[in-house]
Amino acid sequence: MKNFYVTTPIYYPSGKFHIGTAYTTILADVIARYKRMEGYNVKFTTGLDEHGLKIETKAIEAGKTPQEYVDEMAKNAINLWEKLNISQHDFIRTTNQKHEEIVLKIYEKMCNNGDIYKGHYSGWYCVPCETYFTETQLVDGKCPDCGREVNLTEEECYFFNIKKYQSKIEEFYEKNPNFLEPVFRKEEIMNNFIKPGLEDLCISRTTFSWGIKLPNDPKHVMYVWLDALTNYITSLGYLTENDSEFKSFWPADIQIIGKDIVRFHAIYWPIFLMSLGIDTPKKLYSHGFIVMKDGKMSKSKGNVVSPDDLVRDYGCDSLRMYELFVGPPELDAEWDDRGIDGVNRFLKRLWNMLMESKEKDIQPTKEMIKLRHRM
Ligand code: ME8
Ligand code: MG
Repeated sequence: MKNFYVTTPIYYPSGKFHIGTAYTTILADVIARYKRMEGYNVKFTTGLDEHGLKIETKAIEAGKTPQEYVDEMAKNAINLWEKLNISQHDFIRTTNQKHEEIVLKIYEKMCNNGDIYKGHYSGWYCVPCETYFTETQLVDGKCPDCGREVNLTEEECYFFNIKKYQSKIEEFYEKNPNFLEPVFRKEEIMNNFIKPGLEDLCISRTTFSWGIKLPNDPKHVMYVWLDALTNYITSLGYLTENDSEFKSFWPADIQIIGKDIVRFHAIYWPIFLMSLGIDTPKKLYSHGFIVMKDGKMSKSKGNVVSPDDLVRDYGCDSLRMYELFVGPPELDAEWDDRGIDGVNRFLKRLWNMLMESKEKDIQPTKEMIKLRHRM
C-alpha cells in the first residue's frame, strides 16, 4: 500500500481556538480522508506548540504553572477536534518527553555538522510572533507580521548558520518550482527574503525559561521555532530505535499552513532538513486567512468566532462544509454567518431527501439524525 503523510501546523495554546485554526485542520482532515478513500495508508498529524515566552506569560496571567496551563489547553484542543470529526492519528505536544528527547538529538546533530555557533543578538522582539526583527524590517515601529508592539532586546545566543545554505536553498527552489504553492507566495519568499540574502537565525533564548534547555549551555532554552518545526519528524520517531514510521512516511506529501508562517516553513524548515541530511517535504501549501467584515479576528475587537458555538448551532458537517467552500483557499475569505446558515439548510434538505429515499444502501449517519432533530 502506498503511504501518504499530511500535517497541520502545531498551534500555540495561547488562547481558545477559532475558526481560523479550525480552517487549516479541516482542510488537512479532508485531504487525509480523501487519500484514505483512495486506498493510501495515511498518517495525519496535528498538535500544540507549547513552549516559549508567549505561553509562559499566559500561564502566569492565569495563575498556573506553564505545564498546568498547557495540559488544560491540550484537553480543550483535543475535545474541539473530536467535535469537528478530525481524524488525526497523532496529537503532538512539544512538552512530550519523546519530542523533547528527539529535539535534543537533532540539535546535537546540527552542532556536530558545524551549523551552530555562539554570538550576540540585538533586535526588536515580537512576543506574539516569537520573532526578532531588525530596525529596518519594522513597519511604523511595529511588528511587520502582526502590527503589535516590539521590544528592544539584547541577548547572548546561539545561531544557526543559515547563510551557509544560501545557494542550496536557491538551487532547491530552482529544482522544485512547485514545492511551495500558491506560486505567488513562492515569489514573495524568493523576492523578499531569499534573493536579498538570508541572515543567520538566533536559535536560543536566555530571557525566559519555558523551553527545552540546551544541554551544552542550560541557561539557554531552544528557540520555539526550531523546537516546533521538528515536530513533523519527531512524530515519526526520527532518530529513535523505533523509526519505521519515519522510514515509511517521510518526506511528507503535503504540509498545510497559513500564509503567516510561510517564511519559517519555506526557508528555515528545508534548511534544517538539509543540515540533518534528510529529504525536504514534497509540498508546502499555504492558505489565506479567514477574516471578519471588520478586518482581522482579534480578542480585543471581540469579533472572534468560536467553532464550539457553531457546532452547537449548526452541527459539525455544516461547519466543515462551509469552511471548505468559504473561498478559494489561496486567498483571504470573509466569514459570513449567513453562509453557514445556508449550508446548514442545504444539508438538512439533502439529509431529508436521502432518508426518504427508497435506496436500501443509504444509511443515515449519526450527524444526519442529529441535524434532523435540530430542525
Ligand atoms: O504559528 N484564518 O501557531 P498559531 C486561517 N505555533 N487560518 C488561521 C487564522 C485565520 N484567521 N488564524 C490562524 C503558530 N490560522 C506556530 C506554528 S508549526 C511548526 C508552528 C491558522 O497558533 C493558520 O494555519 O499562531 C496559521 O498558520 C496557524 O493557524 C497559526 O497558528
Ligand atoms: Mg500566530
